[in-house]
Amino acid sequence: MCRVSGYIGKGDALPIIMEGLRRQGYGGYDSSGVLIGNGADLTCVRAVGKLENLEKKLENQTLKGNWGIGQIRWATHGGVTEANAHPHRDCKGNIFLVHNGIVENYQELKEKLIKKGHKFTSETDTEVLCHLIESFFQGNLEEATRKALRLVKGTYGLLIISKQDPEKIVAARLSSPLLIGTNDQDYIIASDPIAVAPYARKIIQLDDYEIATITLKDLFILKEKIPQVLELDLGVAEKGGYPHFMLKEIMEGPEAIENAIKGRLMIDDGSVKLGGLDNVQNKLREIKRLILVACGTSNFAARIGKYMLEEYAGIPTEVDIGSEFRYRKPILDKNTAVIFISQSGETADTLACLKEVKNKGILTLGITNVVGSSQTRETDAGIYTRSGPEIGVASTKSFLGQFTVLAMLMVYLGRQREMSLVTGKRIVSELSKIPDLAKKILSLTQKIEKLTEKYKDFQNFWFIGRKYNFPVALEGALKLKEISYLHAEGMAGGELKHGPLALINENFPTIAICPSDSVYEKMMSNIEEIKARGGPIIAVATEGNEKIKEIVDDVIYIPKTLEVLTPILSVIPFHLFAYYMGVLRGYDVDKPRNLAKSVTVE
Ligand code: F6R
Repeated sequence: MCRVSGYIGKGDALPIIMEGLRRQGYGGYDSSGVLIGNGADLTCVRAVGKLENLEKKLENQTLKGNWGIGQIRWATHGGVTEANAHPHRDCKGNIFLVHNGIVENYQELKEKLIKKGHKFTSETDTEVLCHLIESFFQGNLEEATRKALRLVKGTYGLLIISKQDPEKIVAARLSSPLLIGTNDQDYIIASDPIAVAPYARKIIQLDDYEIATITLKDLFILKEKIPQVLELDLGVAEKGGYPHFMLKEIMEGPEAIENAIKGRLMIDDGSVKLGGLDNVQNKLREIKRLILVACGTSNFAARIGKYMLEEYAGIPTEVDIGSEFRYRKPILDKNTAVIFISQSGETADTLACLKEVKNKGILTLGITNVVGSSQTRETDAGIYTRSGPEIGVASTKSFLGQFTVLAMLMVYLGRQREMSLVTGKRIVSELSKIPDLAKKILSLTQKIEKLTEKYKDFQNFWFIGRKYNFPVALEGALKLKEISYLHAEGMAGGELKHGPLALINENFPTIAICPSDSVYEKMMSNIEEIKARGGPIIAVATEGNEKIKEIVDDVIYIPKTLEVLTPILSVIPFHLFAYYMGVLRGYDVDKPRNLAKSVTVE
């Protein structure tokens, strides 16, 4: 998605803004631009494609100045052209701005502005904001911005500057992340904390409808804010010797699980300690129904969560995707709690549901990775996954973190209800061993790489699983699609015979998750059905199951654990499979085409 970066302070603005853009570029983008101010002298440079193209253009200019703004764009309205790249400007070249978000009523605003004589130079929704602010501008930029934004529908993280009101950046936010980092001398404004980390140790998060005005002299925010100390490891944006962030993050999986459980497991009590739920502990005891809302990979974690929470906590649980939940009419009452699951905590579809549920006075919980994100600030209570920053566009280690938190939530809610001490102890003790078991799977990396060589010429794949591993099949297929651009479908094993079996032949391999669990025999029947029709089969099976080798073409072994915890192990080979397949096919696995890390638009 788009990302903005701005700087105002005692230093040289250009390298700081460019570094901010580079650090935020992990999410994918297709053009970029910067504007540097030296007093009231403004210079704007934009380019299509990678940041290197912008850097090349900048080589021919001496762009000195101590304030400015920049943006990387991921096209939504209008093609990938220099004219559509940010910063955008008004008619007079007085107001410039960069934007992350979407102006939903831009057509209506544009028509009115054109009637008033405004001339547009791009096809973007963003440009209307420049002209709208221009129409209110009488010398004071924040005043004009405030008046203009009252008319805007949509989402924005905006940085605005004016030639006639210089050495000032106005920042405004609505449903798009925006924060200011400061070391009391310099102010860095960005969409993602990763951009401000090298320069600032304090951050100020902007809330919806807030406007901050930052000048060279002082920092003024309309609503008082208490600066939070930024907790971000500066080394995180580096690949640490790995060729891609995605591989690094898959390898960090065991550590992500370890971080999620650290200090939270109480093995002797067969229980868990989740400090983020302390203030709603009693309310949770009364809850009779749960709804889990999430998108993409987070939604697959939620689907496993449903099976867990129903089997072990005994709470009827539904799962929905954000973009559906927000448009249907869910039946909610005071006995229901809604849990939002999001790595970024900024996914627009999930956040929109959260706002809707909050308005109805229903208890909301969040399972989030990014500290201080919108989701964590809006929910009544929540649990951090503590997976650490995830830079690769595809969710890998954060899925493991979400699963681990859901497993702990299952124990927490289960122990409030009927779950026995013995069951609690068994699950918690097994959870404590999972990081080591996950490490064992990572030692299979080379084997999985070889498998991708063998299967690289197939164009279609089925992923099948049952019960706890059905959502893992969905996740395996999603990863293969997004990283290697191959067609893959995930399915419950039992559904094969209801239609999809018709597609099976020697050109359509199936990846079947069949650990030695309560549905093993059923999975084996599915495997036989596929084999009878000549379909190649890769099985993910439990260590020690030698018999399966006689039936399937290839086997990936995972260590034995409790059935309920199997998905955290069975998913790892799929992340590796998608990764190596993508690399083998020559794709940019960290930034798959058409995708963005955090989907902050509807
Ligand atoms: C897939 C992937 C996406 C995200 C989805 C939700 O690999 O990363 O499907 O899971 O966009 O994102 P969050 O969890 O940030 O809400």
